[in-house]
Formats: sequence, structure tokens, C-alpha cells
Amino acid sequence: MPEEYRPAVTVVDDAPAASRAAAAIIADVVRDDPRALLGLATGGTMIPVYAELAAIVARGELSLAQVASFNLDEYVGLPPDHPQSYRAFMEAHLAGPAGMDPARIEIPSGMAPDPQAEADRYEALLAARGPVALQLLGLGGNGHIGFNEPGSAIDSRTRVVTLDPRTVADNARFFGQGEEVPHQAISMGVATILSARRILLVATGAGKAGAVRAMLEGPVGPDCPASFLRRHPSVQVILDEAAAAGLTQRE
Ligand code: F6R
Repeated sequence: MPEEYRPAVTVVDDAPAASRAAAAIIADVVRDDPRALLGLATGGTMIPVYAELAAIVARGELSLAQVASFNLDEYVGLPPDHPQSYRAFMEAHLAGPAGMDPARIEIPSGMAPDPQAEADRYEALLAARGPVALQLLGLGGNGHIGFNEPGSAIDSRTRVVTLDPRTVADNARFFGQGEEVPHQAISMGVATILSARRILLVATGAGKAGAVRAMLEGPVGPDCPASFLRRHPSVQVILDEAAAAGLTQRE
């Protein structure tokens, strides 16, 4: 049997408190190593986390100017200047407000003519530059991490993935009415994520409660890809009360 670890779970009152806690952890990693390589996520959960980080930078308590990062994923078919591309997200929420150098933010290209070749290039670049010091993750309502949807294998690497209908529906809120939500993405695989030295997952809101419970208390397996985090020795999970509401075992 492969070893199973217990993620360190912190439950705070609400999403602003979770965002502050996550930003403080990221800031500590960068203070320890101003040139740290970070693994970064996008999505609604990360917006207030990055805003907190930008506030720490604005107070003069931290600089992100030297850090480098690899993002988890990008939609296939969206150009970098599309407002819903993850490249645009990173520039709007992190590079601009928190002073990260956009040239040091690696994101798969959603416009590559051969998306799988782009995924292979990205995996190889990360393997050459890694390991990531801290991988930040959100959690899909269906238990995905990155865009590793249910059914993803523990040994998966960066690849082209087809988004689950629930993910497409969840992400539709970011797109304009009538605008097509991409159905494919290039995503780091589960094994790619697990190769980070340390992992920090943030989940907030009642919509995540079922996935949080499956991640921490369900079987470890592809039905809930986030459960594979229990195969990594250094995982911290920050939840708000609403996301933690389904847990039966709380310290
Ligand atoms: C984003 C990503 C996804 C999101 C997840 C949660 O880069 O890889 O796994 O973290 O879908 O999204 P939100 O935070 O919008 O609920």
C-alpha cells in the first residue's frame, strides 16, 4: 500500500480570513527565498488571495519582483489577451497589482497549433526549472485540482483535458452571456502537482463542502482527484466554515 498522509487542515470563519491565511503562507515562502518558484492557480477563490498578497506588497512588507511561477492550466483556444484567459487573469490579479514580473509567469499557451506538444513542452520546462517550492491550489466542486477532472490518474502529467460539464457550467459565470465557454484546457497532471515540495489548497464556500469531504475523508482515488493530495507528505488545506461543513472528523 502506498503511504497515506494527513493534510494539515485549518478552518477559519470566512473567505476573507482564508485569503489572509493563504497570502501569509505565500509571503513567508517568498521571504525565505525571494527567487522562489511558485505554482499558481486562477479562479474565484484566488482573487481575494492575490488581493491580500498585493496588499502585503503595497505595505512594503514583501516583494514579488524576483519570484517565478508556473500556472496550473490554460484554456485551449483562448488567446492571451482574451479577458478570460488565465494569462489575462494573472496579469490583472497578480502581475499588475502585486508587482510580479509578467515575463516570469509561465502559463501553457492556449493557442499552440499542437496543444499536446505544448503540454509536453510545459511539463519538460517545469521539470527542468522545478521543483516548485509551493503549489497553490483551488478545489473544483467536483473534486478537481488544476483541471484534473474525476477519472484523472495519479501518474498523469501535463496534457490536454476535456472539461467536465460541471466545470464548464461553474466557469460560465466568468464569461459573457452567449459567449462560448472553452471545453478543453492544458493542465498540469496530478503527478506534476504532487512533484511540488509543498502544497497549499484553499477552498471556500458551501459549494465546495462535498468536494472537501471527499478529498479528506473519502477513498483516495480518481473519483476525487484532490484525494491524491493525501499521497503527498506536505499539504496544508485552508477552509472557511462553509467549505468545512461536511467534515465529520474535525480536530
Ligand atoms: C484554476 C484551477 C481550478 C480552480 C478550481 C476552483 O487554475 O486550476 O482547479 O482552482 O476550479 O475554482 P474557483 O476558485 O473559481 O471555485
